[in-house]
Amino acid sequence: MKEINSKISGFYKLSVEERQKTLIQLFDLTKEETELLQNFGYFTSSQQDKMIENVIGSYQLPMGLACNFKINNKDYLIPMVIEEPSVVAAASNSARFARKHGGFHSEEVKPIMISQIQITQVEDIEKAKQILLEHKEEIIKIANEQDPFLNELGGGAFDFEIRELSTRRGDMIILHLLVNVLDAMGANVVNTMAEAISPYIEELCQARIYLRILSNLATHRIAKSRAVFDKDLLGGEGVVEGIMLAYEFAYADPYRATTHNKGIMNGISALTLATGNDTRAIESGAHAYASLSGKYSPLTNFEIDSNGNLVGEIEIPLALGIIGGMTKIHPMARLALKILNVKSANELSQVAAALGLAQNVAALRALATEGIQKGHMTLHSRNIAKLAGVPDDLIEEVAKKLVEDKKIRVDYAKEVLKSIKK
Ligand code: MEV
Repeated sequence: MKEINSKISGFYKLSVEERQKTLIQLFDLTKEETELLQNFGYFTSSQQDKMIENVIGSYQLPMGLACNFKINNKDYLIPMVIEEPSVVAAASNSARFARKHGGFHSEEVKPIMISQIQITQVEDIEKAKQILLEHKEEIIKIANEQDPFLNELGGGAFDFEIRELSTRRGDMIILHLLVNVLDAMGANVVNTMAEAISPYIEELCQARIYLRILSNLATHRIAKSRAVFDKDLLGGEGVVEGIMLAYEFAYADPYRATTHNKGIMNGISALTLATGNDTRAIESGAHAYASLSGKYSPLTNFEIDSNGNLVGEIEIPLALGIIGGMTKIHPMARLALKILNVKSANELSQVAAALGLAQNVAALRALATEGIQKGHMTLHSRNIAKLAGVPDDLIEEVAKKLVEDKKIRVDYAKEVLKSIKK
């Protein structure tokens, strides 16, 4: 590969087609590679060009459907967008184990976001706090003027919390504006409100405000879900005990807790992506919440009931919306929301929490029994066979042989193909 100069002047000003031309020349792209770049799927290139900067192409991932979910007595088919094999099957399976005992019970998730305002260079912190409290009504009024419609619908800013922070660059006041964002994820509206109230607060406190931005640690937007997973369907007493030991391992060890929570996020992030929500916001919030006690911990907890069944619970901040952002713009996100049939951001978060719990139980069950590689390898071997150029009608046969011989490699797939053809 020849050396490139990454300083391409004016790349952002080019049309998508011109950018593609630049790439074709720069990397000697083949006809197939060029066609790949030019395939925007269900989007037009100009639609995608408006979403982010320097657009050169589009990137697709599979959308799968998790089955068997009953949440608060309603059945759901849950669309998931993820590249990892086994995740969708695992969620469906464990939803079946919970279904026998009524499915998942998720609590209401109040769509309340925190917008942070960093008030610095305050001469008298106590006095400034007092002034802020005295002017609460005006501050909230200015915030709500930014989105009268939200206010009319029953949402909007309704309160604030004041925190004092000691930092290496001095003491600060951090004001947390609390906003009910109804069915939105809420980032835009709360950021606008924070920016709008800041000049007034600066004047009131004779201070200097720097940051005005939401917190992704949405501690007022906590989702909780609970389910009983059938002992026999899980595989018996020994499996339940294995899951409990896996949970204790995660509880005691942040190295394990991180992977434990990653398994939960396999489900939640896949639904977040499918519905056009912000995966990074959800992920950062989840992991911060997991360490809020000072020790990074599992986001789920488990116990065994008097019948030997596994009782699981999850608690996680979920800033998910069904309006705004990509939710209505992305055609597949719109379709995902239609399939999911949720009427509110609250309901979407209730589903997401249940999915996260199901995903976690499935992972722990697999880990405590046969391990996760078996399921993974079957799917992985199909991909390897495809990569080795195995024709579609022989993929299953070749993949099976790769798994049997525990040699899931492209060179071996080619060898197997040759011998089958002979
Ligand atoms: C893999 O994507 C997720 C797991 O590692 C989760 C876990 O270990 O609990 C299987």
